[in-house]
Amino acid sequence: MLLDYENLEPKQIYKVMSQSIIPRPIAWIVTEEGGVVNVAPFSYFTPLSSSPATVIVSIGHKADKTPKDTLFNIRKTKKATICFVDEENLENMQNSANPHEKNESETDIYNIETKYILDGYPPIIASVQSAMFCDFHSEVELDGSTKPIILNVKKQYFKDELIDEKLNIFLENISRVGKNFAKSKEITEL
Ligand SMILES: Cc1cc2nc3c(=O)[nH]c(=O)nc-3n(C[C@H](O)[C@H](O)[C@H](O)COP(=O)(O)O)c2cc1C
Repeated sequence: MLLDYENLEPKQIYKVMSQSIIPRPIAWIVTEEGGVVNVAPFSYFTPLSSSPATVIVSIGHKADKTPKDTLFNIRKTKKATICFVDEENLENMQNSANPHEKNESETDIYNIETKYILDGYPPIIASVQSAMFCDFHSEVELDGSTKPIILNVKKQYFKDELIDEKLNIFLENISRVGKNFAKSKEITEL
């Protein structure tokens, strides 16, 4: 079968792409605006370059066509904290994908503990193994409803026991495979 994307609805394209480009890492993004901490997951997310250290994440719009809160906040504050999701955080991560009013914080609604560890940046989710502190770099204009945002990674947090002095790192990230999730720990050696 040869699928022609020209003949597919955006929802169908999402269905095809998200089951083909697997696994996809998940950026569990914390932003803060007007005193409200916002948390939401995004899997159209990937590293872009290590020099400069950049990642890209595509963020869409709400049903009412306004930008998702994460997109609004990054555009306004130019800051984002990207947490990596492990199995312990799976339920909180999924809950935080539910839509809420902009003035409501997922951290309160779902009892997600956060902590501030770097001045000038949104907090990390307290239980995560690692998080990147990022500055807005630019937005890629694709003439669609989803807006790819490039972020510069400035600093990265690790739980002390998950990194050694040679920069070997031992994270157990969860990634997205279609609608499901996979653990990075299950590695097949070649
Ligand atoms: C695992 C997962 C991955 C997601 N990836 C994306 C994505 O890449 N882009 C997007 O716009 N929404 C994505 N979503 C949906 C958003 O998390 C959801 O719309 C959320 O309510 C946005 O919250 P906000 O308005 O607080 O930013 C994803 C949801 C889940 C559970």
